[in-house]
Amino acid sequence: MKISSGLTKAINDQIAMEANASNNYLAMACWCQINGYEESGNFFFTQSAEERTHMMKFVTFLSGQGVKPVIPSTKQPSQSFKSLESICKTALKNEQAVTKSIQKIAELALKQKDFATRNFIQWFVDEQIEEEQKFETILQKFDLLGRDKLAIYEINKLLGSSASSTEE
Ligand code: FEO
Repeated sequence: MKISSGLTKAINDQIAMEANASNNYLAMACWCQINGYEESGNFFFTQSAEERTHMMKFVTFLSGQGVKPVIPSTKQPSQSFKSLESICKTALKNEQAVTKSIQKIAELALKQKDFATRNFIQWFVDEQIEEEQKFETILQKFDLLGRDKLAIYEINKLLGSSASSTEE
């Protein structure tokens, strides 16, 4: 079964979203490193690489279906941030937008009885649960530990220790 033009467009849009996510995390990683949050920097570098992997999964899925994927141009990400907490809030918001977009692809695939795409997208449905939880958990820590310098230092270390367990 050939993938529909509607689903092809939705997946091409998702390729662009993942590419932008990768760049956003790269900018966040650099901000963290420059501001002394090395562990968080490592976490966001890993996140950035992970988003590129996501993008590649969509690229190879389309090309595997005999459809040429659109390799996107990307928007320049914001490079100045207020704080580590504001970065995590932005990251959660972005991940929530990705979840919505993934769910739309799943819905469309189901509607069109394209079970190959529906099956393919399930990995991302599951992945998004993890992605959102990761940032919800870290944001909770600001409420639990506080926002003074020592608390932020600890949260930075926590982010760093989760970097090694998030690679995909
Ligand atoms: Fe690829 Fe974090 O969504």
